[in-house]
Amino acid sequence: MSLEQLLTSIPPGTADESLARQVNVDRLPAHVAVIMDGNGRWAEQRQLPRVEGHRAGIDAVRDTVETAARLGIRVLTLYAFSIENWKRPASEVSTLMVLLKRYLRSELKTLLSNNIRFRVIGRTEDLAPDIQDELRLAMDRTASNTGMLFNIALNYGGRAEIVDAARRAIASGVRPEDLDEERFAGFLYTAGQPDPDLLIRTSGEMRVSNYLLWQIAYAEIYVTETLWPDFRRRHLLEAVLAYQKRERRYGGITAPAVIGSR
Ligand code: FPP
Repeated sequence: MSLEQLLTSIPPGTADESLARQVNVDRLPAHVAVIMDGNGRWAEQRQLPRVEGHRAGIDAVRDTVETAARLGIRVLTLYAFSIENWKRPASEVSTLMVLLKRYLRSELKTLLSNNIRFRVIGRTEDLAPDIQDELRLAMDRTASNTGMLFNIALNYGGRAEIVDAARRAIASGVRPEDLDEERFAGFLYTAGQPDPDLLIRTSGEMRVSNYLLWQIAYAEIYVTETLWPDFRRRHLLEAVLAYQKRERRYGGITAPAVIGSR
């Protein structure tokens, strides 16, 4: 996919078109990770039950996935459900699971037509069997796609992922003296994927919330006040443009114009 591909889906003369044309496609973040926050507040502002915010959030997911794929982002990771989210009322948890299932069913065609490969990261073995089946189906059906990799973080926790990776490393029999950062990263759920270059958080909170703790070591963080259900193509393009203005140093003292994957 490419900017041209994205432009075919944007009405000419709009603000979105002007934003899209400012994007430097040679300096795209290879991996964009998103903390989708603010669904509850979006609903409360409208005197609606919280779950209506999650329902409305699905439109934002759809728009973001399609825009990212068309733009040429290599990996997109959305934080849909954390290990801590089980503490929410059972009715909210079950609505989130139903929404996820519905999303996968209704969007499979779009994932296929956009050449998107779907993956799930997290402790999926603890999810209900029907959810696991739905996830497996979406992963299997999109497995041979070669375009954007779309990860959903589900029953995910960054610390849990590091513990799981440590367990896998031990089980693999790797000798402690042979374990370095690169080798260890190969035991994470995201093995083989580039680390996020850009971490977007909606709704203005300045937290990383146990998300991709290992992988975001050098990510540029972009926080927008926009609540997740209102997040659209324009907001993703604004985040990418803000990222392209950042100077990335990776702990060094020089200011190389190196943007994008390392
Ligand atoms: C945070 O908002 C959002 C979530 C915990 C869930 C996000 C889920 C979706 C957008 C729907 C399902 C996802 C997919 C990928 C199909 P919050 O409830 O914490 O909001 P608040 O901080 O305003 O209370």
